[in-house]
Amino acid sequence: MKWHNKVTSLLNITYPVIQAPMLGITTPEMVAAVSNAGGLGSLPVGGLSADQTRELIRAVKERTNKPFAVNLFAHSNPIYIDPLAFSAMQQFLTTFAAAHEIAYVPPVLDLLKYNTYHHQIDVLLSEKIAVVSFTFGIPEDEYIATLKNRGARLIGTATCVEEALLLDNKFVDLITAQGAEAGGHRGTFITDGPPPMIGTMSLVPQIVDATRRPVLAAGGIADGSTMMAAMMLGAQGVQVGSAFLVCNESSAPVSHKHRIQNASASDAILTRNLSGRWARGIENKLIRAISESGLTPLPYPVQQSLTASIRSFAQQKDLADFTTMWAGQSASKAVRKSAAAIFQSFIDQAQTSFEQIEKHVQVRD
Ligand SMILES: Cc1cc2nc3c(=O)[nH]c(=O)nc-3n(C[C@H](O)[C@H](O)[C@H](O)COP(=O)(O)O)c2cc1C
Repeated sequence: MKWHNKVTSLLNITYPVIQAPMLGITTPEMVAAVSNAGGLGSLPVGGLSADQTRELIRAVKERTNKPFAVNLFAHSNPIYIDPLAFSAMQQFLTTFAAAHEIAYVPPVLDLLKYNTYHHQIDVLLSEKIAVVSFTFGIPEDEYIATLKNRGARLIGTATCVEEALLLDNKFVDLITAQGAEAGGHRGTFITDGPPPMIGTMSLVPQIVDATRRPVLAAGGIADGSTMMAAMMLGAQGVQVGSAFLVCNESSAPVSHKHRIQNASASDAILTRNLSGRWARGIENKLIRAISESGLTPLPYPVQQSLTASIRSFAQQKDLADFTTMWAGQSASKAVRKSAAAIFQSFIDQAQTSFEQIEKHVQVRD
């Protein structure tokens, strides 16, 4: 089977398989393993400082000389935060944490500060990053122009055709069609309300038809056969997240990995309780308690700051019930192997699926 297509040539890779950026899970080792295997590793740096971004990029570069993507968050931060809503959520979380013997450090509203992609672009330019992907929006025109002028390939994320058209009109090089099955945050940026929840099978062919860019399918791509299914729908590549969640190079705590492997598809729910932005993850006590409080989560990333110390305490103590466990609907198919072995099994299974399809076509003929 020949793998060369628009995606492989635009990204200068052997196979059109992208390891999805997964903030909090993806390590430089994971990124390098996938790039070294002939795919494209993606390093998530959304919300990190310029120094942290540079450090992580260099850690990847120590492990590979192949292309890899750096992934940015392209949202704007809320201008006004309702102090009453902030303090109500803070009080609720203080009581909740105390009841579960969790050390909670409440954030101070006036001291909240957030890094944005604007602080990171210079690092990406000076480190000569070959591929820049982004989610939650589109970087401003001047940043798109600068990155493109310096030769970077751009990958934008769309959760509906309208977003894909906006990305197409900004001349991004590739579009990730993120279906509703996907783990982690919805990349939605055309609405602050509930995000479009269009399944990968419906979304991919519609974006392929509507835009001029090669499309990467994301959401529910769990093995070689789902990858081939996405290619049959017109995708020219896939972006795979959950399948790498429990790999050796993943930084997910042990209990998180255990929950993922034992989750049913319906355990991965959509919630904005942890971060303020809609995301798919395994339901736990913290998510349920915030729902039952009747309080409305603050906008992203303020809610994220409000829950931060509970989640980081839980990460350190390996308490799955009080942390973030982003995962897609097919996450339980993830296997505990090296990222390179998982990547290779995608390629091998895709080859087998391709042969099966050929056989079925012959039989039907
Ligand atoms: C734990 C986790 C963290 C994620 N973090 C990011 C991120 O930092 N940036 C991003 O663009 N997408 C992020 N995503 C979404 C993935 O890029 C991708 O769209 C999704 O994993 C694809 O669906 P799948 O999980 O079914 O493979 C994350 C997904 C997961 C599961």
